[in-house]
Amino acid sequence: MKAAITATAKYLPDGVVTNHDLERMLETNDEWIRSRTGISERRIMKDPDKASSFLCGEVAKQLLDKRGISAEEIELIIVATMTPDMLFPSTACLVQDIIGATGAWAFDLNAACSGFIFALNTAARFIESGAHKKVMVIGGDKMSSIVDYTDRSTAILFGDGAAGVLLEPAESEGYGILDARLYSDGTNGKDHLLMSGGGSLHPATHETVEKRMHFIHQDGRQVFKSAVTAMADTAAEIMQRNNLDAENIAWLIPHQANQRIIQATAERMGLGMEKVISNIAHYGNTTAGTIPICLAELDEQRKLNRGSNLVLVSFGAGYTWGGMYIKWQ
Ligand code: ACO
Repeated sequence: MKAAITATAKYLPDGVVTNHDLERMLETNDEWIRSRTGISERRIMKDPDKASSFLCGEVAKQLLDKRGISAEEIELIIVATMTPDMLFPSTACLVQDIIGATGAWAFDLNAACSGFIFALNTAARFIESGAHKKVMVIGGDKMSSIVDYTDRSTAILFGDGAAGVLLEPAESEGYGILDARLYSDGTNGKDHLLMSGGGSLHPATHETVEKRMHFIHQDGRQVFKSAVTAMADTAAEIMQRNNLDAENIAWLIPHQANQRIIQATAERMGLGMEKVISNIAHYGNTTAGTIPICLAELDEQRKLNRGSNLVLVSFGAGYTWGGMYIKWQ
């Protein structure tokens, strides 16, 4: 039995921060940001009282509405996030509370930008084994809560947003999540993309605040090189394992970190950009949100047909990366 996506939903906060807004805060410019990243604007949750659980909760409510089911029917909620409201309780438990999914168990999964694919593959196992019939998988981050708006190398990249799916047993054979290859490399990844403060190694102190340890730090050039290679290699591996080619792939759904990484992945797959979804121009990098936001947009625009072959690929902190093959039901 395979697991299939039966509903999609997304939530982006209303606040828009354009490159021109950032020009007034940092030594940067619209032309540099657009040409180096593909980003023109990003969404920011401006209400300080609303965080990742709110973004993910809005997604969860829509998933129930779209599928026409009650919260009590949900058996498991997995939230992929690296910006939980608090270290504990998990954001998934807060989402459970928001929708009143009293019969579900719930947990968070942190694999940074690969969080959604990691969570989706985890959730698929619970469907395939017959343990559960209705699982919610939501990826979302309030990146503005950990972005240093005095650091031009990271401030330009990230936005807030969330999206998710409902996962159920596929109706017929040959549909749903058919393959996934997931990877991690802590040896090369641990020093290049991190937030060192606030965990058990460096709990919050005046010193950690002064040293700006509660913000993202990224060695962009190093991460870029690793991301291009990993995403392209994994996409090629997924194609080869599943006898996919540029002709029979309907959509590449890549993590939205940099338009140049997206293009390099598509080139390696031999895909024209008309088969690649990219919304990085409007949302920037929403971390665990990017891939499900893309899925939800394709679904809203009725661009997913029964039998469409989808290839999902991601790369993020850890390092973590992976690819997935879905035949749309
Ligand atoms: N505006 C203007 N100039 C800038 C800016 C800016 N915002 N940022 C950096 N620069 C300058 C640098 O100082 C540097 O100047 P120098 O040559 O005088 O030293 C120059 O531009 C080039 O800097 P690079 O860092 O080499 O620029 P690059 O082309 O690598 O682009 C970027 C930087 C966009 C961050 C890119 O490296 C990237 O996309 N990296 C990968 C991001 C990624 O995939 N992350 C993984 C997912 S995120 C997650 O998991 C949370």
